[in-house]
Amino acid sequence: MQIPVQLGLFEQSKTPQKKKQESEWGTFKDSLRAPVHRWFTYPAGFSYKAVEHSIERFGILPGQTIYDPFMGSGTTNLTAKTLGIHSFGVEAHPFVYRITTAKMNWCIDRGEVLEFLKVVRLELPHLSQSYHPDQIKETFPELILKCYQENTLADLLALRILVCEQKMSADLREFFFVVATALLREVSTAATGWPYIAPNKQKVTSMDKDVLTEFSNLARRMVDDIEEIKIWSNGRYQRTTHTLINGDSRDTTGQIPAESVDHVFTSPPYLNNFDCADRTRLELYFWGEAKTWGEITRDVRDKLMTSATTQIARSDAKYEISAELQADCSDVAAFVATAVAELSTRRLHKGGKKSYDLMVAGYFNDIHQIVRDVYRVLKPNTKALFVLGDSAPYGVHIPTDKLIGEIGLGVGFSDYDIEVLRTRGDKWKANPQRHSVALRESIVILSKK
Ligand SMILES: C[S@@+](CC[C@H](N)C(=O)[O-])C[C@H]1O[C@@H](n2cnc3c(N)ncnc32)[C@H](O)[C@@H]1O
Repeated sequence: MQIPVQLGLFEQSKTPQKKKQESEWGTFKDSLRAPVHRWFTYPAGFSYKAVEHSIERFGILPGQTIYDPFMGSGTTNLTAKTLGIHSFGVEAHPFVYRITTAKMNWCIDRGEVLEFLKVVRLELPHLSQSYHPDQIKETFPELILKCYQENTLADLLALRILVCEQKMSADLREFFFVVATALLREVSTAATGWPYIAPNKQKVTSMDKDVLTEFSNLARRMVDDIEEIKIWSNGRYQRTTHTLINGDSRDTTGQIPAESVDHVFTSPPYLNNFDCADRTRLELYFWGEAKTWGEITRDVRDKLMTSATTQIARSDAKYEISAELQADCSDVAAFVATAVAELSTRRLHKGGKKSYDLMVAGYFNDIHQIVRDVYRVLKPNTKALFVLGDSAPYGVHIPTDKLIGEIGLGVGFSDYDIEVLRTRGDKWKANPQRHSVALRESIVILSKK
């Protein structure tokens, strides 16, 4: 395999400061400082600046269409909307999809927001006091009970009821759904920072924050954010349409027409055993959308492409390398088969015996389908950019970027480039028990003729 690897984008013109900024494009840091983007701290999110850069670099203009097959918190779609570009987005996680749909709706009336805040100020205190502790215990799973003090939880339950049941427009309800969601980790006394929840650990500053005050402040800030992003957009957003789909990007036939897209900017789940479903456990439990691990598996985990061992049942035949992957990309299928065989031996000598072998096979089966569908929806003479990291489960290095590039060639793309954003995981390098390769985060650029 002949693979061109460049260190960073536009290398020739870069100052050290610019290089540092670009090395963070695969992270959510920039987006946490940007209006509306920051409404939901999504640990799997990337930088809106990377999307802006790609749009400028490849000359995507207002009125054209961009697609993100792993929409997540909507960074690509929000950026497109701000710049007057139409978009498609597909997200399989129903809760994340709901948050993003609300972030893309900028028709929220400040007066109506203030009206509801008035209702909350009046109703919440006595509603909260009306709950018996047993009622709260019966309502929430153990994890939630451990993360909040009793009075906070009573306030949150009252808020949940007001947001879900108070008479208001559907748009406003979805807006407040996001406000209350953003509040959840804010007012917890347990270490609920992203991405992990540690209910038995207290935050350094474990003073209880007041639900009512925080909720009002947050709602006002979010309305201000909408004003701010509209100013950024300078009216361009008004001429755009956005089709957001709660579905599966492995096959969007019937949802996204062939040759309808001018550019793809996306980031698939990394092959690093990060369980996107589990990371939203606190939120799913709070809203009553799941009560157990099993329900999260059925309603969320099973809908996502394979990228974590927690998704895997070893008896499932879907983890055999697919005939389609073998037919389209025999080199990749052969590489994956060797890695799978090695991992199936190594796991037997490890304490956790994690199913990394099947995870790797499932990952490339799924990515193959997605890259093939991306090829279908792109117009001729366009590019698809995938931001992603490689990985080395049980010390077996899987160069995800090169393999996705090769899969691209197998499904019809004419060529690909890999540009490295940053190396990462150097601590593993020093540990001979694991592996000796510095991991990296890159952008794979697939070209369609
Ligand atoms: C790395 S995240 C993308 C984050 C996004 N770039 C952002 O800035 O928020 C990958 C996303 O893909 C979603 N996903 C996983 N499998 C999917 C599938 N088959 N179809 C659509 N979305 C999927 C996950 O739920 C997750 O939100």
